Amino acid sequence: MVVDSSWLIDQFEARFPGSEDEVRIARAPGRVNLIGEHTDYSGGFVLPVAIGHDVAIAFRVRPDRNVRLYSCSYDQMAQFSLDDIVVSDDAPWSNYFRGVAWALTEYGEQGDAKACLSGIDAVIAGDVPEGAGLSSSAAFEVASAISLLVAAGMDPSVIRNFESERAIEVRRRIALVCQKAENLFVGVNCGIMDQMASCFGRADHAIYLDCRSLEHELVGLGLHRADVALVIFDTGVRRGLVDSEYNRRREEVEAGARMISALSGRGGIHTLRDIDVSLFQETRDALPPVVARRCEHVIMENKRVQDGVAALARGDLGAFGNLMWRSHESLRDLYEVSCPELDMAVEIARKTDGVLGARMTGAGFGGCTVSLVHRAALPDLEGALPTGPMRKGALESRAFVADVVDGAGAE
Ligand code: GLA
Repeated sequence: MVVDSSWLIDQFEARFPGSEDEVRIARAPGRVNLIGEHTDYSGGFVLPVAIGHDVAIAFRVRPDRNVRLYSCSYDQMAQFSLDDIVVSDDAPWSNYFRGVAWALTEYGEQGDAKACLSGIDAVIAGDVPEGAGLSSSAAFEVASAISLLVAAGMDPSVIRNFESERAIEVRRRIALVCQKAENLFVGVNCGIMDQMASCFGRADHAIYLDCRSLEHELVGLGLHRADVALVIFDTGVRRGLVDSEYNRRREEVEAGARMISALSGRGGIHTLRDIDVSLFQETRDALPPVVARRCEHVIMENKRVQDGVAALARGDLGAFGNLMWRSHESLRDLYEVSCPELDMAVEIARKTDGVLGARMTGAGFGGCTVSLVHRAALPDLEGALPTGPMRKGALESRAFVADVVDGAGAE
């Protein structure tokens, strides 16, 4: 759907009257990951797509160093100076923007980024569901970075041609700055997948990203040709547990890499990415059972991403779908980040003819599943999936077909 530009400009004018000609819009999409879950922070492979739901920021440059933000979702104003960027308790949503401004000054391209940034007035709106595992935070961060960079004088055409070396370099820096903002300012220890997906998405393509080198390749999905739709099912379940369990999984796989390195006596092992299937099998029995399960998931999931990319290159969506089922089982049984509602949605998909594959997507413990579905089977799947809250206190569950779109930019 994406946020409507003229509606957003009206919202902006209502809050910050002035010349409409000087108002720009930065946008960044959410993402859904097709396969390669919980692999990014082990330097592994992921295969996300940018989806047609985004965060849009209308903004106008100010003559000073003040930033005034208005969030349409929270109906709240927030204000700060670029010379004194601190965490806000009153408007926690604004911490993503503050964090990006802070990270641009600390880690931006030029050493003097601190002096370059300009104050802005900005209105923020988004239609990426929050807390659903579709990266609304990364979308907000990336849109924030682009608005600040354009306000500081960056020509948006620099990043418009996705294939140019310069655009790739700038987009990669934006993704890294946004990850720094989330890790060090907001305090969430995420990997790099979400920010890279929001920056590098391309219509009808998945991003085959190597999270060790940060190199990526675009992989054509061929969904239209095969009459297949990408369906996201939001269970409506939101869990606060995600952060603590996420950090624990990170610690477990980091410990696993250290243990396998010590057991093998080999150097050059920094993350699980440096461990192949045969070395893992040699050392598996010497690992604590929980660590062994976590490592098995990551090492085999990396292999599934590579196999999935090969399947897409052959136009074999059936084979890709099979890898999605396997991925879900592994996340459920080995990595233990699923939940009953996600499992139920995947089981319903499995029993519906015409569904090629389905799995939980994102960090887990709630949020969404992603499936590839023959368009003719959409009514059956939508009819079989539950509507309404799936557990006490949960939001309404719902299924929707997602478009695969281009990554972030400015209008
Ligand atoms: C969250 C994190 C990502 C990634 C996924 C799991 O979305 O932000 O970096 O680790 O979980 O694949």
